[in-house]
Amino acid sequence: MIVGILGCGTIANVLIHKIENKKEIKVKYFYDRDVEKAENLARTHDGTAILDFHDMIDKVDLVLESASQSSVKELILDVLKKGKDVIIMSVGALLNKDLWNEMKSVSKKTGAKIHIPSGAIAGLDAIKAGSVGEIRKVLLTTKKSPSSLGMSIDKEEILFYGKASEAVKIFPLNINVAATLSIASNLDIDVKILVDPKVDRNIHQIFVEGDFGKFITETENLPSKSNPKTSILAAYSAIQLLNSLTESFNLGA
Ligand SMILES: NC(=O)c1ccc[n+]([C@@H]2O[C@H](COP(=O)([O-])OP(=O)(O)OC[C@H]3O[C@@H](n4cnc5c(N)ncnc54)[C@H](O)[C@@H]3O)[C@@H](O)[C@H]2O)c1
Repeated sequence: MIVGILGCGTIANVLIHKIENKKEIKVKYFYDRDVEKAENLARTHDGTAILDFHDMIDKVDLVLESASQSSVKELILDVLKKGKDVIIMSVGALLNKDLWNEMKSVSKKTGAKIHIPSGAIAGLDAIKAGSVGEIRKVLLTTKKSPSSLGMSIDKEEILFYGKASEAVKIFPLNINVAATLSIASNLDIDVKILVDPKVDRNIHQIFVEGDFGKFITETENLPSKSNPKTSILAAYSAIQLLNSLTESFNLGA
C-alpha cells in the first residue's frame, strides 16, 4: 500500500518515526502548504515532497490527512472521487453534515474507504458495539493544561459546556475526539472542556449510557513534544489503524 501524507506536522512526524518499515506499507509522498515541512519529512524517510496536492492522488492508494479541518473540506473529496482511501485525523470537519454526507456518498460510488482512528481516547470499541442498541447519553469531559490552549491561568475554569458540533467550531484544534464520539454514537454528544493549571496532560473522561448498560473511561494523555495540543496516543492510533489495514484479522468492534 502506497501512502501519501497531507500535513507534515506533529502527527506525521511521530508516524514516520514510529511506523514499522513493512513491505506492505510504504509512506512515500509528503504534501504540506509549508513546502519546507514536506521536504524535511520526505528527506528523513527517503520519500518525495509534492508541490501540488492533486499530483499526489494518482500516485497513492491511501492519503493520511493530518493537517486541518480546512484541508478536509478543500481536498479530501477529490481523493475519494478517484477511489482512493483516506485516514482522517481532523475529525471535527466531519460534523459538517453536508460534507460528511457527500464524502460517504462519493465513497459508496467509487469504493473508496474513509477511516477514522480512535484518537486519544479509550472506549470507541464499546460505543460502536453499544450503538447496535440505543445509546442515550455520551458526555465527554476534557481537562486541558493552560499551555495546550495557549493560556495562562491560576485556577480551574470551565471553558465550554455544550454540544460537540459547537465545540469543534470553537476549538477546531483541540476537540476532535468529540467528533469521533458523535459519529460512533450517532448523537451530537455533550462536551465539557475544563482548563486546569494543575494538569500537564490532556485528560479525557467519557461517560456512556445506553441499552447495553453504561461505562466510564478515562485517558491521561501525554502531549507530543512539538505540539502540546496533540496527544501522543492520537498519533499512535493513526499508526495502529494504518497497520491494521494490512493485517489478516480485525480486532475490536
Ligand atoms: N483525531 C484526533 O484525535 C486528533 C488528535 C490530535 C490532533 N488532531 C488533528 O490532526 C490535525 C494535525 O495535528 P498535528 O498536531 O499534526 O498539527 P500540526 O499543526 O503539528 O501540523 C499540521 C500540519 O498541516 C499543515 N496544514 C494545515 N492545513 C493545511 C492545508 N490546508 N493544506 C496543506 N497543509 C496544511 C500545516 O502546515 C502543518 O505542517 C489537526 O487538525 C488536529 O486538530 C486530531
